[in-house]
Amino acid sequence: MSKLWGGRFTKPTNDLVDAYTSSIHFDQKLAKEDIQCSLAHVQMLGETGIISKEEAETISHGLTVISGKIDRGEVSFSTEHEDIHMNIEKLLIDEIGEVGGKLHTGRSRNDQVATDMHLYLRTKTNELIALLEHVQQAIYKQAEANVETILPGYTHLQRAQPVSFAHHVLAYFWMFERDKQRLQDSLKRINWSPLGAAAMAGTTYPIDRERTAELLDFEYVYPNSMDAVSDRDFILEFLSDASIIITHISRLSEELVLWSSEEFSFIELDDAFCTGSSIMPQKKNPDVPELLRGKTGRIYGHLTGLLTLLKGLPLAYNKDMQEDKEGMFDTVETLEGALNLLAPMLESMTVNKAHMRQAVTQDYSNATDIADYLAVKGMPFRQAHEVIGKIVLYAIEANKYLLDLTLEEFQSFSTLFEDDIFTKLLPDEVVAARDSYGGTGHEKVHMQLKQAADCLSHH
Ligand code: ARG
Repeated sequence: MSKLWGGRFTKPTNDLVDAYTSSIHFDQKLAKEDIQCSLAHVQMLGETGIISKEEAETISHGLTVISGKIDRGEVSFSTEHEDIHMNIEKLLIDEIGEVGGKLHTGRSRNDQVATDMHLYLRTKTNELIALLEHVQQAIYKQAEANVETILPGYTHLQRAQPVSFAHHVLAYFWMFERDKQRLQDSLKRINWSPLGAAAMAGTTYPIDRERTAELLDFEYVYPNSMDAVSDRDFILEFLSDASIIITHISRLSEELVLWSSEEFSFIELDDAFCTGSSIMPQKKNPDVPELLRGKTGRIYGHLTGLLTLLKGLPLAYNKDMQEDKEGMFDTVETLEGALNLLAPMLESMTVNKAHMRQAVTQDYSNATDIADYLAVKGMPFRQAHEVIGKIVLYAIEANKYLLDLTLEEFQSFSTLFEDDIFTKLLPDEVVAARDSYGGTGHEKVHMQLKQAADCLSHH
């Protein structure tokens, strides 16, 4: 069988070269987009009279037939035809005869592949936005049920101040909200049409790029043909957004791993989302969040890989760019897998309210509140901080928590202390008192839940 570009050659391609340069084993994922792109192109060729209406119809019909065969798994692609574009063109010519050869009039694989990837990423970006929202829904439900669940908040992984569990998990809600917004924003740039840039310089045919853009539902046409075939920054942007998303997933996963340890015992993951050990019968391992945390490496790797690939490339198309696809596919699939698991895992986890509460009654995380207590009574905060530091030290040495101290003990540090200090120090009071905007006070968390609900399309 001869190559579609074989005219200039006197020898067949070395088999190793065919195997090495071929991309069909991965770019067949673009089959649907490739046909969509060709259908728009051929319709425009017919409308502009570059080919006849009948020819355009024959080609469109042929493409539709091939599309059905691909869906039903009735075609086999070949390495010899290198990539998805030439495989489909070959199938078309086999299907409808020589006229199929007119499809490639006024275009090149260079604008074709770029268009296919824009179409692919547009679909996937929209799907990922929906999956992110599922995770947000799961977080929202846990938050709604746990406004009054109190646990220690940490800085430096040392107990800092008690917070509402709803407040803690809603922090992730907002991270995923910005992730959604970033993806949404990237659609503006994904929605540029490279089609019609041809190999790199445009074409001599009177093509209508606006028309193909319209048929493919793109909002804008790349104004420069060299940029159109060389641009991969829409993929870089996607990989950057994906890196941020997986970072957020990884941080949350790390907390789930910590919280489900015996030492914390703040949550329990549902059995359906854990695995056991082949040797230790007592084990219930948080493999899923561990693996989610572990997936960051490959996505960062794909981002770094593509940045490195592009940095020294002269304009316009270079074969190096064929390496842009596997990392993009893998990133999409990795994220889909992660988000699909994260939502039901969060929804099904048990929140161990009693353990969380016990933790806040056995620590010094209410120390700031006594400092505030003295400050409200007129002592400069810096001085109050010093006094409370001494009280904490005294309590640690006496093997007591702050609530175990007597009023006399408090008063030996400052005469400003009165009986009401004991209610001020209760964990619920401590949390409720932080009612500044965006704080963990119950009222503000309820307000935050309302704001969160507004970000969800199905609430
Ligand atoms: N398979 C190629 C790729 O993915 C398609 C474009 C090939 N263009 C070319 N001039 N060799 O990049």
